[in-house]
Amino acid sequence: MCGIVAYTGSRSAVPILLDGLTALEYRGYDSAGLVTSTRMYKEVGNVAALRACLDADTSLRKKGKEKKEQDTAGIAHTRWATHGEPTKVNAHPHAGRDERVWLVHNGIIENYLELKQSLEAAGHSFRSDTDSEVLAHLIESHYTKKRAEKHTLAQAVTEALAQVRGTYGIAVFDRKQPSEIVVARMGSPLLIGVGAGEYVIASDASAVIRHTRDIVYLNDGEYAIVSPSNLAIYSLSHEKKTHTIDHIDWALEDVQKQGYEHFMLKEIMEGPEVLRASARGRIKASSGDVVLGGLAEHADALRGLSRLVIVACGTAYYAGCVGKRLIEELAGIPVEVEVASEFRHRRLLYDRNTAVLAVTQSGETADTLWSIREAKKQGLLTLGVVNTVGSTIARETDAGVYNHAGPEIGVASTKAFLSQIEVLAMIAVYLGRMRGLSEREGKALVAELLQMPDLVAEILTHKDAIKEVATHYADATNMLYIGRHMNAPVALEGALKLKEISYLHAEGYPAGEMKHGPIAMIEPSFPTLAIAPRDSVYDKMVSAIEEIRARKGPVIAVVTRGDTELAGRVDAIMEVPETHELLSPLLTVVPLQLFAYYVGVARGYNVDRPRNLAKSVTVE
Ligand code: G6P
Repeated sequence: MCGIVAYTGSRSAVPILLDGLTALEYRGYDSAGLVTSTRMYKEVGNVAALRACLDADTSLRKKGKEKKEQDTAGIAHTRWATHGEPTKVNAHPHAGRDERVWLVHNGIIENYLELKQSLEAAGHSFRSDTDSEVLAHLIESHYTKKRAEKHTLAQAVTEALAQVRGTYGIAVFDRKQPSEIVVARMGSPLLIGVGAGEYVIASDASAVIRHTRDIVYLNDGEYAIVSPSNLAIYSLSHEKKTHTIDHIDWALEDVQKQGYEHFMLKEIMEGPEVLRASARGRIKASSGDVVLGGLAEHADALRGLSRLVIVACGTAYYAGCVGKRLIEELAGIPVEVEVASEFRHRRLLYDRNTAVLAVTQSGETADTLWSIREAKKQGLLTLGVVNTVGSTIARETDAGVYNHAGPEIGVASTKAFLSQIEVLAMIAVYLGRMRGLSEREGKALVAELLQMPDLVAEILTHKDAIKEVATHYADATNMLYIGRHMNAPVALEGALKLKEISYLHAEGYPAGEMKHGPIAMIEPSFPTLAIAPRDSVYDKMVSAIEEIRARKGPVIAVVTRGDTELAGRVDAIMEVPETHELLSPLLTVVPLQLFAYYVGVARGYNVDRPRNLAKSVTVE
């Protein structure tokens, strides 16, 4: 979704802002813009379009023998439209009436219409349809009204924010005193990269990493005054805050394609390494135990859990559905899984021995975050399986486990899904060993988990065979995905992946539900992807496949390597190695990810930037 970059220091700001915006492109956006003390540009479309318009202007300036540009501060933005269409005028930055105060904003100002009306009554007129422009006017009106009293920009910002309802991450500056940037945060992430005599502010660390790995995370309800020589953080009620500097443990290469055509393919291919990283130092093969330092402090509460509720969105939700089966089987704890946008609005009828576990790659998804806050209000223990270190959900949950999967750039989540399932499997063994899972069972599971990177690597060596199948079916208009037991959620995730990046309509169903509706759609032009590894529900999957074949529906099956029985009966197969039934989603999802990727590519789409989608959904 929307992204913010701001810079103050001694270097030329424009290239830093543009590179920062490029690093944020993966989040999904439809227009971009930037402002420094002497220049302001906005463009619909991608950052390259913005860069081109800047380059054209720079060469004009050179022809006109203007002085070399020396702006050393500025703010910039990628916009994902919420209020108003993606047009140049709606793109950020936005200015107040006198075009002195400029702002970039992530989030939603809920009472913007009310504020707009009162500003209009005071003579303001607005250029755009956005809620963000209203905030720019509001800040400027506080700033200019009191300038005689030497009102600072920070004071004006906090006074304006006191009138606002909604969510925001903002960077604001006075074009006449550009080196001081005021930033504030409520519900929309912001971090400040600390360099030598400079600060790079962004909504996401990937925009900062090429300059510094030292980061200060702003908390909700805080604002900061940032100038090249100083960083001061306060609460919105003006209490001075001390800040700590965190160190990011990944590098610039992690957010680069490294020779792959797309981030999505790179991230699928990283599967084995991601599984190794998520398990590193956590598995004790000799005793069948899992060590999860992030949960240790709450071990007693976890031992006495009566219920676990997993909340998540999108792909993370399907990982949660796999986690439910794992935790119920191995730890005997009843688990509910709920889409976070539903959980947060209903009455929560849980006892004090319930814990709520958020599963989230970004750690910033608005609905997941608010679900955790609701759970906290009810006095429930909150836990997180989070990939992004230092993210809001990581910081607000009582305890949790980091994925350590590294940054995920492709909008369609792939490596994070694998890692989420692996971490949930480790949590299941961890809880299970506290609650009666035998050493023998524990050992068998962790031994298989340790094998998993090699098994995934083996599937990846057959990616060309999967490409061939995908290319063959790329012209389909509809597809059904079916799976059962551990692989029912995998079917749903496989269908989601295909929808996201190939815009091919796909539905995922638990195979047993097929006869209750979807079978009506089966015909020769409607292929089904059936996930049917050799497991306890194999025979039932074979029956479901037969029912589809009887209606002349083409079937592609994900099967255990060497399964000649099914291979002879279906139109195409994608093979996975044998593994423990409970862990099979870690393998069966890999061909589905590759299948979706190759279908998307064959249909000619930019799979890393699917239309209308955002990597991290930070608004409700
Ligand atoms: C968006 C992304 C999905 C992701 C979901 C949840 O929809 O496009 O790939 O699964 O958000 O994101 P989270 O960061 O909470 O895992």
